[in-house]
Amino acid sequence: MSQLPHEIAHTLTHFQQPQLVLALQTLPPEQQRQLLDQIQTVDFPMLRGIWQSAVSETPSATSDTDRPARARAPGNVVRQPGSTSDAEEWANAGRVGEQALRAGAVAIITVAGGQGTRLGFEHPKGMFPIGPVTDRTLFQVFAEQILARRNRYQAAIPWLIMTSDATHAETVTFFRANRFFGLDETSVVFFQQGNLPAIDAATGELLLAGPADLALSPDGHGGLVMALQNAGLIARMQHDGIQHLFYHQVDNPTAIIADPALIGFHCLRQSQLTTCVVCKTSPTERMGVLVDVDGHTEIIEYSELTPEQAAGHDESGQWIFWAGNTAIHVFDVAFLHHLTQKGSQLPIHVARKNVAFFNSAGVLEQPSDPGRPNAIKLERFIFDALPLATRTLIVEGDRQREFNPVKNKSGNDSAATSQAALNRIAHQWLQTAGYSIPSDRIVEISPLQALDHMELQQRLTAGILNLNEIRMK
Ligand code: UD1
Repeated sequence: MSQLPHEIAHTLTHFQQPQLVLALQTLPPEQQRQLLDQIQTVDFPMLRGIWQSAVSETPSATSDTDRPARARAPGNVVRQPGSTSDAEEWANAGRVGEQALRAGAVAIITVAGGQGTRLGFEHPKGMFPIGPVTDRTLFQVFAEQILARRNRYQAAIPWLIMTSDATHAETVTFFRANRFFGLDETSVVFFQQGNLPAIDAATGELLLAGPADLALSPDGHGGLVMALQNAGLIARMQHDGIQHLFYHQVDNPTAIIADPALIGFHCLRQSQLTTCVVCKTSPTERMGVLVDVDGHTEIIEYSELTPEQAAGHDESGQWIFWAGNTAIHVFDVAFLHHLTQKGSQLPIHVARKNVAFFNSAGVLEQPSDPGRPNAIKLERFIFDALPLATRTLIVEGDRQREFNPVKNKSGNDSAATSQAALNRIAHQWLQTAGYSIPSDRIVEISPLQALDHMELQQRLTAGILNLNEIRMK
């Protein structure tokens, strides 16, 4: 045991963390250093404030409970094409997006740091087998889309993958074992998001996960901004002439990666942050919704709305909370840079959860009462950047085509619904190309065979692709 630095001892005492003082005083020097390193990254005044407002239930910056009442259906939306002139506008946006891709002005970011608790899959979610015939993983589906886009536009289109402590090592090993799915290894950049500590809900003390470890968890996809900055990636993108960052979540295999139309609308409207939305299937569907509040575009999470609010209509009879967040965005790199310059982190959201902890008797306890979670967990959300932008845009996507995520073990948004969607889309593309496949056959088209129905039709017609190369069972 070595002497505890006076300043640290003072901070811990001031912010009422006696368990950390005790742990540090009793640990051998090497472990003491390990715990000290973690403690030194903690912003104790901020955490104390968050805990106090959470337990006293006084509204914090992120819990403006009146927001749903002030929300309006979003104004600035490009809807799905409904007329010939709309179709022309979409086609034009597609061409503009293609120019940006061809010019090397676009990079892709996949957020893959989440723990995937709901799915109950033991590995990073990107390793989940989703191909309805081949068990192709989510990562492979994205890798093949990116490779196909690079080939189509003869452009670099770098791929950034955000991992966390929970997913990093396994993700990198998986890519290496699969030889980066044919991508040039140097064009895929892994970087890690940060962590935030779990707080004992009853006492405000930081929980320990082991004798010399704080109980830490990934800081949410909103950790992206600082993680990009800390890894030097914003500067690198600016240096390399990348102006737009296409963002998507690891859980949706039907996301159209680097969608030219979405990027095109983003460029044409000079948006700083563009979001793809789809119409929610019901008010209770667990999607965040895009709304306008006090003149700003924002997302209200499903957990913030009562069922009555979620079903609310405005004076003109329009459903207010229809615009479901697909979590597909386009960021201007200059806007991301601006966010980091402001020095302000995105706000923190709190969630009460059960978290295993190392108790004062030196035993790991696993609380399990869902009615009385022992801990407060903290996260940042990337969409809190929306109200910080001066120019935002919302583009409506084609729900059936683009939004079929894997989130749950069964029921809605499960592997079964997502695989069914991949199969349905493959059947539709083949039918459009003039091939009628019996409906009981399961079909899987690799993105390397076709990125869309037009490409499939062209390649089959030209004999570049044969029907028997398409996997079916
Ligand atoms: C999310 C959105 C919701 C949207 C829905 C669409 C939030 C809070 N809500 O809900 O508005 O309608 O997706 O599918 O995000 N991740 C990280 N690091 C983290 C936490 C998450 O990289 O620390 C990644 C995950 O790997 C995943 C994504 O973020 O790719 C989504 O996280 P998840 O917590 O599953 O969000 P949802 O509740 O599904």
